[in-house]
Amino acid sequence: MDKIISARTGLKGSIKIPGDKSISHRAVMFGSIAKGDTNIKGFLTGDDCMSTIACFRKLGIDIETIGENVTVHGKGLRGLKAPREALDVGNSGTTIRLISGILSAQDFDCVLNGDASIRKRPMRRIIDPLSLMGADIESTNGGYAPLTIHGKKLNAIEYTMPVASAQVKSSILLASLFAEGTTVIREPVASRDHTEIMLNYFGANIKNSKGVITSTPVEELYGGDIEVPGDISSAAFFIAAGLIVPNSHIIIENVGVNPTRTGIVDAFKAMGGNVNIINERSSGGEPVADIEVKTSHLRSITLEGSIIPRMIDEIPVFAVAALCAEGTTVVKDAEELKVKESNRIATMSEELGKLGVTIEETDDGMIIKGGQRIKSGTVYSHLDHRVAMSCAVAGLIGDGDTRITDADCVGISFPDFYEKLESL
Ligand code: S3P
Repeated sequence: MDKIISARTGLKGSIKIPGDKSISHRAVMFGSIAKGDTNIKGFLTGDDCMSTIACFRKLGIDIETIGENVTVHGKGLRGLKAPREALDVGNSGTTIRLISGILSAQDFDCVLNGDASIRKRPMRRIIDPLSLMGADIESTNGGYAPLTIHGKKLNAIEYTMPVASAQVKSSILLASLFAEGTTVIREPVASRDHTEIMLNYFGANIKNSKGVITSTPVEELYGGDIEVPGDISSAAFFIAAGLIVPNSHIIIENVGVNPTRTGIVDAFKAMGGNVNIINERSSGGEPVADIEVKTSHLRSITLEGSIIPRMIDEIPVFAVAALCAEGTTVVKDAEELKVKESNRIATMSEELGKLGVTIEETDDGMIIKGGQRIKSGTVYSHLDHRVAMSCAVAGLIGDGDTRITDADCVGISFPDFYEKLESL
């Protein structure tokens, strides 16, 4: 499907955005290996999280869905059954990397596969630590899906992660639930900690002391109720739009504001953006708030270091906003962008280039000259949901219509993105 985005002024109103993708995946996975029912409200029904549900159904878990309400009838740590066929993770890196930690410890074998994008994403980063724990994982070309996992008895490890990745950390933590002994993980920079929060809520024994995470196995996990907050990574498109579209004032309701995820708000504030976290409250151990944003005059910054993992998925749309800032914005330490659903340094620079603006690619990020005028044109999503939505935000400040081809990939994380945009 193609989508036409017209230039706009005055985005005004309140919106609710869909549930957090990371938390939705985890609620289904952890609910499946916990005893009893896990009732999830506000579940993200995007394609990625539906892939996670499909995988756990094939592993013998009964999961009921009524819209955004999901009930997982968990079977406990030793309750999964051998699937009759390969598990298909679709486009979801979170599904394949986290589930591998669980499947490595089962008493059966299985195969994990996904779409063309998944088969190009690095799996060495989980195969290495899981193998140290005793896992037996075969991969294509020494590190890509499909993965064949032969279930084994695992042992605890001490592991220093070479890259900050919540998916890798979570994969090891899930394996640690089944391993003999206490697993210790050191993160170079803090990444999102939804796994630690939710597993502990279900009864696990995971501690974090200054970036050293320890996990000691428990007999069982017990399911509970989860209210999934709105995804700040989805809110980010509306935060950026509210800042750069003239005469805008938007309130985004019920957004997860876990400090490991709020880098985008901190970055825009540092640029002089009028964006504020208001009405802060807490739900299931996760902080939740509303976010208010008004059109602002932005000034360039250098984005680097520990803020990068706190906003890794938001950098494509951050780059669009930086095009409107005064001065030159530099993004460093963000080489991880190259191994997302697409190489987001290359795809953003290529597609925005088609709209008449230049983003200079660097080895670990990009250089974005502010004050560039976005022209009308046709861009391609590269089947990457965040590239499509970032281009849509660019289209809002274009000098005419912007056509996005293969625009329906937004269904991965934000099925009604275009409708929400039109509602403002
Ligand atoms: C995620 C972690 C991040 C993020 C992804 C979701 C998660 O990936 O980009 O969209 O749910 O743990 P990395 O762990 O590769 O940084």
